[in-house]
Amino acid sequence: MSNPFKFGTVVDGAFFTDRIAELQYVKQILQSENHLVLISPRRFGKSSLINKALEQIERRHIVINMQSVTSVQHFAHKLMNALFRVYPMERLKHLMTHFRIVPTISTNPMTDTVDVSFSPIVNNTEIILEDAMNLLEKVSTEEHRLIVVLDEFQEVVTLAKGFDRQLRSIMQMQKNINYVFLGSQESMMENIFEKKKSPFYHFGQMMRLNKIPREDFRQYIAERLDEMLADSILDFTNCHPYYTQQIAYQVWDLVHYEQEKDDIVEKAIDRIVMLHDLDFERLWLNFNKSDRRVLQDLCLFSQPALGADRSIPASTTYSILKKLMQQGYVIKTEHYEIEDPFFRRWVNRFSHR
Ligand SMILES: Nc1ncnc2c1ncn2[C@@H]1O[C@H](COP(=O)(O)OP(=O)(O)O)[C@@H](O)[C@H]1O
Ligand SMILES: [Mg+2]
Repeated sequence: MSNPFKFGTVVDGAFFTDRIAELQYVKQILQSENHLVLISPRRFGKSSLINKALEQIERRHIVINMQSVTSVQHFAHKLMNALFRVYPMERLKHLMTHFRIVPTISTNPMTDTVDVSFSPIVNNTEIILEDAMNLLEKVSTEEHRLIVVLDEFQEVVTLAKGFDRQLRSIMQMQKNINYVFLGSQESMMENIFEKKKSPFYHFGQMMRLNKIPREDFRQYIAERLDEMLADSILDFTNCHPYYTQQIAYQVWDLVHYEQEKDDIVEKAIDRIVMLHDLDFERLWLNFNKSDRRVLQDLCLFSQPALGADRSIPASTTYSILKKLMQQGYVIKTEHYEIEDPFFRRWVNRFSHR
């Protein structure tokens, strides 16, 4: 039997649990003429959820991770390559006759893939982007609407000056495409979609993804381990999807390969913390003294210290928390918490050394 837990990449099939209402909602939007904006901290399951919806909807789609895009031209390049993977070459070639800057199309007969590239000496990125974006609309029809997923979308803001504005002005003219904007930098995503001055103000239906509800996650783990282990795991991870799968994976290995009987969850935590000891130490050393103080309080007391004996003013504490949230080290659910429970454990130990 192989390990029934999985973490790190998109999960599917037996590794995917819950999200029934969310899935329904995503599908409903994609079947309408609207766009979707999906926000959550990293590793909550956005990509997995969208992947599942796309699988069930069975429509042509392309996915671009904006974090892997280095320039506007690169973005156009990626769009084209993605299109060539889902539409037949003949159809695309025919539609590209209007391109103002003609790209080079090369095929690799070994891998059966196509690579479209624009000459790097051409520097009219606006035209390249427009042509590539217009091609999306041309291949898409009313009955077969293309779905375009832009993951880690908050990156548009920093990619190039005016890029967001240009993108939006093209997108708003398109009729047969559903866009899905995913983002894990919550405040940046809010600025993009909720600020009146932003070009993407209210451009799509906003949806927030929460952690997986405890009862459901508990059952999922219990079916694969047992109820007691499930409870100890969730007490430690507080239902964070990724870290829960990570520790459950380790626990399962301990049970099945090492026949551990006692304190299994603690042993699994130890293993993982030890594995990351060096990274955690490096991370810690990169924080300044006040950051460390705030983190330490969060780790020890599960809340920022704002009491009378505080050594940092409350306003400073809040601005540090805000920064740590932007960087992804702290997340806010019902309260502030350290994103990574293993790092939390490491800080607790380190503080007592
Ligand atoms: N519905 C789910 N059921 C079980 N585990 C999940 C689910 N969604 C996410 N996970 C866990 O979280 C990890 C990160 O999921 P992912 O979809 O990549 O998140 P995001 O795109 O928000 O960063 C997955 O590898 C998996 O371990
Ligand atoms: Mg993702």
